[in-house]
Amino acid sequence: MNFYAGIALLLLACIGNSAWWAIFVNRTHSLRYHADSLRYVRKVHDAGILLFPPVAFWFLGWADSGLLRGGSVTEFSAVRQGTLLLALSGLVPFTWSVVRWQVRRAPVELHKATSVHFDVPGKEAGTSTGDLAQGNRVPLLARFPKNEVHRLEVTRKWLCLTERPARHGHESRKIKVAHFSDTHFTGYPGRHYFEFATDRLCELQPDIFVFTGDLLDNEALLPWASEMFSRLVTVAPGYSILGNHDWHLNHSRIRRGLIETGWVDIGGQHRTVSIGDATVLLAGTEAPWIGTNPGVPESASEDLRILLSHSPDQRDYAQRQQFDLMLCGHNHGGQVVLPVIGPVYAPSKYGVKYAGGTYRYRQMLMHVSRGLSGQEALRLNCCPEVTLLEVEF
Ligand SMILES: [Fe+2]
Repeated sequence: MNFYAGIALLLLACIGNSAWWAIFVNRTHSLRYHADSLRYVRKVHDAGILLFPPVAFWFLGWADSGLLRGGSVTEFSAVRQGTLLLALSGLVPFTWSVVRWQVRRAPVELHKATSVHFDVPGKEAGTSTGDLAQGNRVPLLARFPKNEVHRLEVTRKWLCLTERPARHGHESRKIKVAHFSDTHFTGYPGRHYFEFATDRLCELQPDIFVFTGDLLDNEALLPWASEMFSRLVTVAPGYSILGNHDWHLNHSRIRRGLIETGWVDIGGQHRTVSIGDATVLLAGTEAPWIGTNPGVPESASEDLRILLSHSPDQRDYAQRQQFDLMLCGHNHGGQVVLPVIGPVYAPSKYGVKYAGGTYRYRQMLMHVSRGLSGQEALRLNCCPEVTLLEVEF
């Protein structure tokens, strides 16, 4: 084989190998594994990606009859052929993911979307409470060029569900739901960032707020969360669930803390609420981390069914239970969105398919929030967001 063709083939094998490791880490992070096990998984993933290129270039390239020495694949032993083929086969899911990203389209029910971006002031400042978590230092990752960790996108989306089979045949109605997720209080961004986000959320003047989990990464910062959530319920009622990062901590204490702010916890439960002149069945699921998916009545008198689910992985359950709208977080938009390729990592069994945005699955609409923060202070082409959903049905 020509030297340059050999280089190209080995580089493609490196990409394919990385794709398999990304799939491995995405799938394992969608499961109910403890933080220590997941740290181990990430180390294995890092080793698998970093060690493959030197091993491949030596074992398949420079060693006897290697591709870079004029050898050919047909002269390879079964082990070398298998290694190369396995790595190259990763190009299939990789290509599929890139094509899906490139041809993605918003569902027809999303009639309109507008957004405003903010650079939140105080990027370099630590706060006195922030010292608890980060020793008054801006994390190294946060200094990454073009990092958007200190920006905020306020999005408004108009969802129209009037064209689907009417549940009970009625005049069209509208509710305004402010959806935010994944605050992940770590100490960075500091308190000022969440105060800014709270101000923007209050300005949206929704009928209800919903929060879809991953409140904290540092339990000592529960007072930050309490301050934010108590302010919000002075504007509209709030309904919340917890996420996998809360599960890693003392989630009963976190849940109590949220309830004490006046928010209604609906993790593993459902309830029927009146919003304006509409009756809405609201349910919440923290599966697979805390509890199970709630059983909801098959047929009731509600006008709309909304499920809060930390992860979009509960999609099939939501569809079976005839929810009209499923609101999720967890995937953070992928946090890093590469040019052309799109997001690579999302802790979901669906990989990056539902990284962030509005989707339709059969009769159901899904809104996956990119969230406000994350355990790692890195966001590239993936601005943190809060969203006002104006739902007409
Ligand atoms: Fe999260």
